[in-house]
Amino acid sequence: MKELISTALRYRHNRLELLDQHQLPDRELWLHCDSVEAMVAMIRKLQIRGAPLIGIGAALLLAHLAEQGWRETQLRDAAATLRDARPTAVNLMNCLDRMLAVIDQGPAALVACAEALFEEDVALCQRMSAFGAELLPEGARVLTHCNTGSLATAGSGTAIGVIAEASRRGKLRHVWVDETRPLLQGGRLTAWEMNRLGIPHQIQCDSMAAILMRDGLVDAILVGSDRIAANGDFANKVGTYNLAVNAHFHAIPFYVVAPWTTVDPHCPNGQAIPIEQRSAEEIKGVSGSFGEVRWSPMESDVFNPAFDVTPAELVTGWVLDTGVYDRDGIVTAIEQVRAGG
Ligand code: MRU
Repeated sequence: MKELISTALRYRHNRLELLDQHQLPDRELWLHCDSVEAMVAMIRKLQIRGAPLIGIGAALLLAHLAEQGWRETQLRDAAATLRDARPTAVNLMNCLDRMLAVIDQGPAALVACAEALFEEDVALCQRMSAFGAELLPEGARVLTHCNTGSLATAGSGTAIGVIAEASRRGKLRHVWVDETRPLLQGGRLTAWEMNRLGIPHQIQCDSMAAILMRDGLVDAILVGSDRIAANGDFANKVGTYNLAVNAHFHAIPFYVVAPWTTVDPHCPNGQAIPIEQRSAEEIKGVSGSFGEVRWSPMESDVFNPAFDVTPAELVTGWVLDTGVYDRDGIVTAIEQVRAGG
């Protein structure tokens, strides 16, 4: 396979390496990933994360294993195991389906498919960024949630891709970074990316976002997605729904930015999106490069869905790589894709 390099994933000298996102922002540690077990463990621990990047990582691993001489049956088993690693992010299933469609053509076809998935994602990010940047007013103050940037995709990102493009065009004044409980992808990863991009920003706890909206300090909210259903409902990092409700109350435009690889035409609505439940330890404490801290009583139980679903009625626009859609537009576009097979 040829050399492929992104912010958090690299393939070179026949080695797949992933930037350990659990260690950021303090340590930039690259991990060698050479087995399905290692990839599944890294996905579960969010060392590799972000819907598009998980799919591309899984595809690159399959292509690598094919080059190492794995037989078709072994590769099919590997794909089935990888598919179960993250149930909500449909990009993983979409990427694996693209790989499975050529699996009987041998290693060269799998390698070509994985390389294409990587390069396509870079191009998808560029197109979303351009469409999204058009939407923002001059001097925009944007609030975002979780991490949707170059750590979550092979390219510049979805919502953060738009933010970076708006900044390049001189349209961006400020970014409000939701900390994003429980795993702090905003406070750790988006803040790390904002610093690298030189974008003025402040981190706030998720529970403080409503105050910023009330005080007129937010012009638009941009978020990513892990799955968009056929009626426009979408799943994203837990806390997105709270933001959408608050944005609606304060009449602030709320956009979801995602490539077509995040759309699931066969999922009728948000209720049908599977939501991953995660471990109690993530709520009762925190871990990272600094070690582990627990603050809740051992015996207390926890509710910890990794994602929530935002109903289509709360979304101002869907920014896809093919353009910006309103509610009727997204439903019609997805229906056309579904009807086309
Ligand atoms: O659990 P994570 O960190 O993988 O959640 C990521 C998100 O929710 C992102 O918004 C989504 O994957 C889109 S990233 C381009």
